[in-house]
Amino acid sequence: MALPKLHVVIASTRPGRIGPMVGRWVHDFAKEKSAFEPVLVDLADVGLPLIDEPHHPMRRQYQHDHTKAWSRSVNSADAFVFVTPEYNYGPPPSLLNAMDYLYLEWNYKPAGFVSYGGVSGGMRGSARAAMTAATLKMMPIPESVAVPNVFSQLADGAFTANELNAAGASAMLKELAKWEEALRGLRATHRATALAGA
Ligand SMILES: Cc1cc2nc3c(=O)[nH]c(=O)nc-3n(C[C@H](O)[C@H](O)[C@H](O)COP(=O)(O)O)c2cc1C
Repeated sequence: MALPKLHVVIASTRPGRIGPMVGRWVHDFAKEKSAFEPVLVDLADVGLPLIDEPHHPMRRQYQHDHTKAWSRSVNSADAFVFVTPEYNYGPPPSLLNAMDYLYLEWNYKPAGFVSYGGVSGGMRGSARAAMTAATLKMMPIPESVAVPNVFSQLADGAFTANELNAAGASAMLKELAKWEEALRGLRATHRATALAGA
């Protein structure tokens, strides 16, 4: 049987960002140590403009190719890990914008957060993004990874995890796998009804 798909979403999009370094670590860690097939999804590559759809996403009457492509991507995932900094104590607007584009495609999927930043490890941003995730009927799990003073763990374009990061990621991925399995029935019904033809 195919492994469930875990989308590891790099939330920041600005030039010079460090998101991809942390995201690559999360992806490789999940590949080696989890029961998921991880897929790295970089919001900079997805390239969504500020939400420009005329209808509420619940109606799925998408006008733009970028929305249809994003819908297909999110629809194909079974679970998410959002890799995110905090900007001014909140999530980056690129993450909220990408979430707001869709509704049904997010439903009944568990979500973990890997946050990074200064002393707070980006946790204020991930906590606020988790509220939006819950509104979209994702299941944001409490097990998460926060990386404080992230710059001390970067060298030569790569992020090096410490023991605490690895233990946190391991606990988060195990719990995500439990939720992914528990929500499978709900997702199957949802795909056959609300998302039929997607
Ligand atoms: C607009 C902006 C706001 C920021 N606000 C915070 C903050 O509230 N807390 C924090 O720990 N770091 C903050 N930082 C510093 C970021 O942690 C650091 O720049 C990090 O590299 C951002 O992630 P990125 O490189 O993937 O964009 C901020 C950075 C930017 C660009």
